[in-house]
Amino acid sequence: MTGNITFTMIKPSAFEAGYTGNILALIEQGGYKIKAMKKICLSKAEAGLFYEMHFGKPFYEELTSFMSSGPIVAAVLEKENAVEAFRKFIGATDPSKAEKGTIRNLYGKNLGENAVHGSDSDESAEREATFFFSLIERS
Ligand code: CMP
Repeated sequence: MTGNITFTMIKPSAFEAGYTGNILALIEQGGYKIKAMKKICLSKAEAGLFYEMHFGKPFYEELTSFMSSGPIVAAVLEKENAVEAFRKFIGATDPSKAEKGTIRNLYGKNLGENAVHGSDSDESAEREATFFFSLIERS
């Protein structure tokens, strides 16, 4: 059985460009319920911990520097089959390959600065939601 929760972040470049409102509007119009949300600045160490599964990969340093370069908006979203649905909804990781009209197609700049993060499994969604929010903040 698939879960109904996913986790997203609006990344620093999209936040800085003033796309937060538009992105949240698309998410809500897409049928996702915002269960928890916050604007926060990650330290490089915190970004490194969040993306620890990518430790050692060639893009890890660039990814953690970028994700700690400015504010992000983190949110827990609810919808049926949320993880798979949201990944399709935001488009391919590389914005140049993202389907037209998806969030990454509309607001992503490149592979690193791809506007939003989306969990890749139910297990990741739970880990990522717990990374940012307490149970009471998600209720
Ligand atoms: P995200 O969904 O946040 O999960 C991991 C991120 O790493 C991914 O989006 C991309 O922004 C980034 N990423 C993945 N592959 C590369 C790469 N080859 N070069 C730079 N960044 C990458």
